Amino acid sequence: MRRQDVHGNLEGIRDTVIDALAAMLDWEVNEDAYLPHDLCQYLARMTGVIRREIAIYMTRDGEIVDVMVGTDSDVELRDWRLRRNRNRLSGVRCIHTHPNGDGHLSDVDLSALRAFRYDAMTAVGCAGGEPTFVQTAFLTENLLVQMDEPVPWYRVPDRAWRTQILESDRLVGKDSEETDSGHERAVLMGIESEESLAELRRLAETAGAEIVGSFLQKKDRPDAALFIGRGRADELSRQCQALEADVCIFDEELTGIQMRNLEDLLRVKVVDRTTLILDIFAQRASSSEGKLQVELAQLSYQSTRLIGQGLVLSRLAGGIGTRGPGESQLEMNRRHIRGRMTELEARLKELEKQRSLRRKSRERNEVPVVALVGYTNAGKSTLLNRMTGADVYVQDQLFATLDAVGRRVADPGEVAYILVDTVGFIRKLPHTLVKAFRSTLEEAVQADVLVLVHDGSTPDMLGQRETVLQVLDELGATQQKRIEVINKCDLVPVRDGIRDAVMISAREGQNLAELKARIQECLRAQVISFSVFIPFDQYQKSGEVRAMGKVLSESYTDTGTWMQMEAAPEKCEEMESRLGLFIRPVGREEE
Ligand code: GTP
Repeated sequence: MRRQDVHGNLEGIRDTVIDALAAMLDWEVNEDAYLPHDLCQYLARMTGVIRREIAIYMTRDGEIVDVMVGTDSDVELRDWRLRRNRNRLSGVRCIHTHPNGDGHLSDVDLSALRAFRYDAMTAVGCAGGEPTFVQTAFLTENLLVQMDEPVPWYRVPDRAWRTQILESDRLVGKDSEETDSGHERAVLMGIESEESLAELRRLAETAGAEIVGSFLQKKDRPDAALFIGRGRADELSRQCQALEADVCIFDEELTGIQMRNLEDLLRVKVVDRTTLILDIFAQRASSSEGKLQVELAQLSYQSTRLIGQGLVLSRLAGGIGTRGPGESQLEMNRRHIRGRMTELEARLKELEKQRSLRRKSRERNEVPVVALVGYTNAGKSTLLNRMTGADVYVQDQLFATLDAVGRRVADPGEVAYILVDTVGFIRKLPHTLVKAFRSTLEEAVQADVLVLVHDGSTPDMLGQRETVLQVLDELGATQQKRIEVINKCDLVPVRDGIRDAVMISAREGQNLAELKARIQECLRAQVISFSVFIPFDQYQKSGEVRAMGKVLSESYTDTGTWMQMEAAPEKCEEMESRLGLFIRPVGREEE
């Protein structure tokens, strides 16, 4: 017996009766039948025995996939839209009993039919352990309900009702193709502030959701079981139903238990802020390293939140929170997740090695690195494009760029450098993500100069700046020179609040000359020019010397070579003390 598939209010029901209910799961229903007589009678008999409503869920192949027990007046109706495709019915019909003998469908039955897109909804009146009459409703165009007249239980029109399911599927599908944007309908729930909620809205839109409702309930200490209080959660559940939401997105991290409890109560998919951000990253990652990092972050976040099978199964719903870069391993069980994580970690380590080799070779050339860092959507990619003529993806969306993109800037007569764009920062940046993207962000940590780009057009510019400073601190990027830039000045002409900031418009190209000059100033301060002499008999040292800086020119004498160089002051010192070479100011070699 598949007793584990009997759900609902089983309190006080004897084991033998539960076995008898579970027996329905193995009932063989002919594909042509809608509700066979023997099954209908069995349902009525069991309803008489337990005096509670019973719901069974049947696929189009005639398989009974679940048995649910309710109270004497209602039964919890389940959402079977596994692959939540709004263009189609769920592929499962709900047949349930009314122990008071009345076979009419109730209003609740009809709204569940619409909300869960059942193939059909049937009520079976039962009295004294016998069926009375049966009523069925279907969905049609615009999700209107078509209700058939009640019929005596032995007159169920099997063929007509089966045909009607196919017709409904076609009508609902046709309607959705015309009107449905294909976006998931999302309700947002925040507990912190309007600003944070507004940002969540942008994140959700970036992930492709259509926002149908947004609520804020200020709360200092989240409820352990439901995050928000029980009463608010019940209200939210009604709001989700009324707004026909597919997903409810919370503006904080939820524990596995909270997610599970909320999904049970709200009967929609529940996603938290971190899952949402990870989901956006999953869609955006383009380099192989980025993809591996996102997948690893997703798995490690998820593995701490798996409780039993429930969550994994509900994640089958598809859409936000289920997308992964590798299309996806997100439906795995815990053991497989561990294995996959180990594999990903190994591959990332390998890539990390290559990355540090590349970095080394850059160090050898002593090409300085200038990194653009800033809050997501501040305009970093636009600025990179402006300054280098590169073609980096720019979108009015959050996290348009995930991978560090570097371009060489070499203006005549100026110190050449590599300008790198980095992933945007965000408030409450998931910890797993900071960890996962550490190596990409390391470009920023290793940079010689940081250009902090702020969006001058947002009222929360200083709050965003605070986040950026915090994340840089967390990453240990505290040593370099910093230039602060207020961008989008074409929208808000003058903005103060940040000392010494350069006001620019990356899009319009305003004031970039000043920014470039400031970058040069910082770079120049980092290198000094000098000449170093390498005698012929110490020629083997020349390779090492070259690697320590930039050779501008060379001149030869009878005894060796003078190299005119630019390098960091400490390198110059090292040549003198460790390598024992002569150092002279440029132009005064022979003194
Ligand atoms: P992430 O990839 O999310 O980190 O964003 P980003 O900082 O790279 O921002 P991006 O360059 O993608 O720009 C975000 C949006 O701001 C785009 O719609 C740009 O067109 C717009 N934008 C960038 N710079 C300016 C500017 O100077 N003025 C105005 N008006 N809009 C700008």
